[in-house]
Amino acid sequence: MTSTTVTPDASPRSNAQGDGWWRSAVIYQVYPRSFADADGDGIGDLDGIRNRIPYLSRLGVDALWLSPFYVSPQADAGYDVADYTEVDPVFGSLADFDELLAATHDAGLRMIVDLVPNHSSDEHPWFVDAVAAAPGSPERDRYLIRDGRGEHGELPPNNWRSLFGGPAWDRLPDVDGRGSQWYLHLFDTKQPDFNWANAEVAAFFDSVLRFWLDRGVDGFRVDVAHSLVKDGDLPDVDHAAHAIDRETHGGGDRGPMWDQDGVHDIYRHWHKVLDEYGSDRILVAEAWVSPVERMARYVRVDEMQQAFNFPFMLAGWNAPRLRKIIADSLAANDAVGATTTWVLSNHDCVRHSSRFGLTDPTGWPNGIAADDEQPDATLGLRRARAATLLTLALPGSSYLYQGEELGLPDHTALPAEARQDPNFVRTGGREIGRDGCRVPLPWTADAPAYGFSPTGASWLPQPEEFRELAADRQEGDPHSTLALYRDALTLRRAEALGAGAIDWADSATDVLDFRNGGIRVVANVGPSAVPVSGEVLLASSPGAVSGGLLAADATVWLRA
Ligand code: GLC
Ligand code: MG
Repeated sequence: MTSTTVTPDASPRSNAQGDGWWRSAVIYQVYPRSFADADGDGIGDLDGIRNRIPYLSRLGVDALWLSPFYVSPQADAGYDVADYTEVDPVFGSLADFDELLAATHDAGLRMIVDLVPNHSSDEHPWFVDAVAAAPGSPERDRYLIRDGRGEHGELPPNNWRSLFGGPAWDRLPDVDGRGSQWYLHLFDTKQPDFNWANAEVAAFFDSVLRFWLDRGVDGFRVDVAHSLVKDGDLPDVDHAAHAIDRETHGGGDRGPMWDQDGVHDIYRHWHKVLDEYGSDRILVAEAWVSPVERMARYVRVDEMQQAFNFPFMLAGWNAPRLRKIIADSLAANDAVGATTTWVLSNHDCVRHSSRFGLTDPTGWPNGIAADDEQPDATLGLRRARAATLLTLALPGSSYLYQGEELGLPDHTALPAEARQDPNFVRTGGREIGRDGCRVPLPWTADAPAYGFSPTGASWLPQPEEFRELAADRQEGDPHSTLALYRDALTLRRAEALGAGAIDWADSATDVLDFRNGGIRVVANVGPSAVPVSGEVLLASSPGAVSGGLLAADATVWLRA
C-alpha cells in the first residue's frame, strides 16, 4: 500500500484562491453626492450615476463601489445611517437603485455598496428607542452605553477620543431619575457605536446583507471594519502609544477599540452569508491596521476577499517606501492566498495629485486650507500620473477614486462657511478635514457647475481649475490624464497585469524597476533623469522618455 496522504481541501471554497473576478479587478469609487446630479438640487444622485455609466464603461474599470446612499441626516455625508434598507430621497429611491444596478450589470460592470456596521445615525429608530428607554433595558444594550465615572456619573466612562475631535462619549438624558448614562461614538456625536456583543445587532446586519444581496449587489465595502469589537472592559487608552508609526507602518499597541481578534468571527460569519449567494460576492475591509500582516488577517480564506492597502497609500511619492510596501504587502497577502489591493486616493484623504505637489510628497495632511502650503499643481499632477501608472501595473486589484482620472486636485481654497466635514466642525477648524477631495466633478467646461448639475447648483463650490480639467476638455486629447487612464486600463487588461506577478530588477535607490509578464515597468521617483531602453508602450507624461533617458517623476511601461 502506498502511504499517500490525502490532504482535505482546507478552503471551504476557492474564494481567496482561484480566479474570482475581484482578484485583479479595477474598482472605481463613486461618491454619490459629488459624482453627477440629475435632478438639479446640487447633490449628486443615483440617476446621475446611471446617466454616466457609458463614461465608466469607456474608462475601462471592472466594478463600481458606491459610498452610502441610505437614509441619513447626512451628519457625516451618509456614513451616519438612519435606515439601512432604504435610499435617501436626496439620492433617489429603491426603484432608482434597482435601475442603476441593472444598468451597471448590463454594461458588464459589477457593483459593491458601502456597509456601515460600526455605528448608526442617532436618528436610527434603535437609537431613538435607546435614548427613551431606561438604563439596563434591551434597547440600551444595542449600543455601547455606560454609566459615567465620578460621584454622580458626571465624567465619561473612559478617556477615549472621537476621531473627529473631542471626547468619544456624550451624555443621554436621565429618564428615570437614576442619573444619565453615556454613549460611545468613535466618530461624530451623531454616530453612536453599536454593541456588537448584542445578538440582535448581529442578526440585524445579517438581514441588511441579505437585503442588498437579494437585490443583486456584488458585495460590500465594510466601513471601519477593524473597530466593531471593542475590548470588553473599555479600558482607558494611552493615546501616545496608539499613533500609527508611519515609517514602519505598525508595531505598537493597537488600542482597545481597533483590530480586536473578535472582529474576525463576524467576517467569518458574513463570508458564509455571502456564500449562500454563490462564489462571486465580495467583502472589502476598510481597516486602518498595521503592519500589513495584520491587514492580511482580514483576507484569510474564510473571511473577506479584499482589504484596502492603506500602508501603500501612506507611502507617498518615495521610492524606498513604495518598494518596501509593495514587496511586504504582496508577501503578506500571498501567505493567506489573497491578492493585494492598491489605492492612492479616496473620499477621506487629500487627493494624490495634491499630496504629491507638497514640499514633502510623503506628507499626509488632513485637508489643505488656503493659508497652508499650497501644492505645486503641475508637479503634483505629474507625479500623480506617474504613481497611477506604477500602481496599475501591479498585480492584484486597484481602487480608483472618482475624478482622479481627470487629474483633479483638492480644492484648497474652500471658505470655512462651505466646509461640512464634521471633523472641521468638531475641531473648530483646527483640522481642515475632507471636503477638499469631495468637490463635485467637472463634466463640461462651459456648462453651469461644469456640468455637474443642470441648474448649476453644487453642494460644495468648485474651484476655477476644474474648468480646464473637465471631462469634455480631456476627451479626444491623447495627452490628457483621462486618456492616460483609459490607455493604462486597456493595456493592463490586454497584458493581464492584474493576474501577473512581479520580478524586481536591480535599480538606483530612487527608481522602481520590475517586470510583470510582458511589461517592464520603470518608475523614476527621483529628481534626475535615469537611463532607460526598450520599446515604450505607455508613458506617464508626454516626452517622459527621450534620448535614452526617463525624466524625473515619470513612469514608463516598456515591452519586456
Ligand atoms: C470611514 C469612512 C469615513 C467616515 C468614517 C465613519 O472611515 O470612509 O468617510 O467618516 O468611516 O463612518
Ligand atoms: Mg440631485
